[in-house]
Amino acid sequence: STIVVLNGPNLNLLGTREPGIYGAKTLADIERDLRARAGTRAELVFRQSNIEGELVSFVQEAGLAGAGVIINAGAYTHTSIALADAIKASKAVAIEVHLSNVHARESFRHHSYLSPVCRGVIAGFGDRSYHLALEALLEG
Ligand code: DQA
Repeated sequence: STIVVLNGPNLNLLGTREPGIYGAKTLADIERDLRARAGTRAELVFRQSNIEGELVSFVQEAGLAGAGVIINAGAYTHTSIALADAIKASKAVAIEVHLSNVHARESFRHHSYLSPVCRGVIAGFGDRSYHLALEALLEG
């Protein structure tokens, strides 16, 4: 099976971006660890963009390919109806992930446009949020 791992705005800065909140690992570290964990169980495709419309296109492509989706949409989580519509239209099974526990933070991070169209949400486990999402997708 193919799983597309989508990362949104500012996640390219992981490692130096507020490490107290987001951890010391870079996005490349997270990719390497997730690939090692997946092994031969899934083909992983990683995409990152700071541009909302590009993320919409990545979701559409994942849907057409019949891939599962792990998505950390960053701040677009809290703003993007377009991304929610894309997930819904794609019919892809998507899991929303966050490094931080968004519910323990500012109230503007408590609402997600994506949660209602995702299979489930994993937040607050740092880079392990991605690992848990991978296991959840593989278990179906
Ligand atoms: C985040 C949480 C969002 O609120 C924030 O805008 C991010 C990262 C997380 O992984 O914890 O960019 O999605």
